[in-house]
Formats: sequence, C-alpha cells, structure tokens
Amino acid sequence: MFGHGGATVRLLRGDARRLDGVAAGSVHLVVTSPPYPMIPQWDALFRALGADDYVGMQRVLAEAWAACHRVLVPGGILAVNIGDALRTVDGAFRLWPNHAHTLADAERVGFHPLPYVLWKKPTNKPNAFLGSGFVPPNAYVTLDCEYVLLFRKGRLRRLPPHDPARAQSRFSRAERDRWFSQVWSDVRGAPQATPGGRSGAFPLAIPERLVRMFSLVGETVLDPFAGTGTTLDAAVRWGRNAVGVEWDPEVYRELVARGRTLGWRLVTRPAAATGARGGRPRRRRPAAGTGARTG
Ligand SMILES: C[S@@+](CC[C@H](N)C(=O)[O-])C[C@H]1O[C@@H](n2cnc3c(N)ncnc32)[C@H](O)[C@@H]1O
Repeated sequence: MFGHGGATVRLLRGDARRLDGVAAGSVHLVVTSPPYPMIPQWDALFRALGADDYVGMQRVLAEAWAACHRVLVPGGILAVNIGDALRTVDGAFRLWPNHAHTLADAERVGFHPLPYVLWKKPTNKPNAFLGSGFVPPNAYVTLDCEYVLLFRKGRLRRLPPHDPARAQSRFSRAERDRWFSQVWSDVRGAPQATPGGRSGAFPLAIPERLVRMFSLVGETVLDPFAGTGTTLDAAVRWGRNAVGVEWDPEVYRELVARGRTLGWRLVTRPAAATGARGGRPRRRRPAAGTGARTG
C-alpha cells in the first residue's frame, strides 16, 4: 500500500455527460457508480438532468459512457458498479434491468465489453423474500447482486516491458485469485447516511480492487459520478492520481471538505491536456482503516 505520496486529486463541479476540463486521452481507468435509474432516491436528480422516464435516465448514463470513452487512453478500462431496480409502475411490479442497458449502451458508444463481476453482498437476512409465501407462481427471486461491468476502449494497452510502475503495481497470487473470480461475496455494502441524506456510496474495497486490478501506480483514475469520493480515496491510497466530477453543488462542497480532511493534494480547476503519468508516490506504511467499509 502506498500513501498519498505525489498523487493529486482534481475535483471538478460538472456534468459526467460532458466531462469538461478532462482532456481526451488523459485517463487510464474510470471507476464509478452512477445514480441507478428507477431507484426513487435518484428521481429528482434525473428530472433535474432532463430525464423523467426510464429511457431518458438510460440516455443520461449512455452520454456519460460516451464522455468516458473520449477521455480514456486507448486500451483504458471503464468499470461501472450498477444495480437493477424493482419498482411498480402503472400497477405493474417489474425489474428494470439497468445492467443490461449499461452493457448495451457502453458497447454502442464504442467500448468492448469484458467479463464482469457479480457483487453479491453478504446479508444478515438470508430469507429476505418478496412475494406470496409458499405458493407458486407469484413470488420473486431476491435481488441480492449488483454488477461491476467492465469495458475496454479498443485493444489491449501496450506498456514498455521494463516500466518500473509495473513491478510497483503487482498484486499477490491470493489477491489475484480472489479479485479475478466472477463473484465477489466478501464485500459488505457501505453505510449510507450523510448529513445530506443517503449518499449511494460504495465500500472502499470495491474501487480499491478495481484500481489495483486495472491501473498502474502513477496513472490517473477518474470517477465521473464522484459522490463522497470513495474512488478518489482508493486511487490516492494506491499511488494513483485521481479526477472526480460531481454535479450536485452540495455534494461537491462536502467532497472538497472531505478531501481536505483526508489530506489529499487537491486541485480544484481543470488541467491542461496531458496523458502523462503524475509523480511517483513514495512508499509508506499502510494507512489504518483500509478495508471494506467506508463512506
Ligand atoms: C451513486 S452516487 C456515487 C457514490 C460514490 N461512488 C461514492 O462512493 O460516494 C452518484 C453521484 O453522482 C452524482 N451525479 C448525478 N448525476 C451526475 C452528473 N450528470 N454528473 C456528475 N455527477 C452526477 C450524484 O450527485 C451522486 O453524488
């Protein structure tokens, strides 16, 4: 584990659909969790973005994936944590398959889909059950998995064989075996309460794994739906530069405050175009508290 070292965090108040201020080809990895369409928590936000139905909500996300495609380097990876929704509309209860739209839309804007992860959150309620008791046919399978969908921009990245960052970025055999299996069942959800309500935050372990699986030390990781900054925290802990874009002014203010509290090297303005890696971080002792639960 690295510390903050030379890694910087650039925070931008802006729109994931545009990613203004993020130069084309300047990001090596995107790790994000967007607002989930058809989850009531996000209805007002989608409406403010001009989307008041399911199709419009998916369009917002598709435009964000297109912007991510523009800012990634060739061969860069997009990792999207998303869950499906269950909701009754016009008297009909049904599934709203957000993961399926994300797969199709990201492919349509130019990404190559890769094998993905099913994040099965451990639960204390193994019998949580929706439906009609013990009589068929009107009971429902429990929705207890989210997805971490993975995409590549074009072909494999070409790296110089003796780049020291490759050795610095190695993970262990045990980590590889755990992280590159298709079901992650060892990561609990994150606490959700914030002063402004529910944050939709994911636990630090999710972006930590993804940052270490798909980027090198000194590279740049973007979260276009930054929220509380969990991805940015994971990136700097592991010696990567981070860029976070957040649309909601109040959430953005809290994000800047959190960055100050965590001691990030903050930059709060757009950068000039660069695809270069930032300064190499110094090695440090592991920070306390790295693990599965943060906000
Ligand atoms: C699910 S939350 C992300 C939570 C984040 N992964 C974390 O751990 O805190 C989605 C975030 O995206 C923000 N958001 C929604 N639409 C956006 C847009 N068009 N551009 C940028 N941010 C947006 C929301 O305000 C919210 O903070």
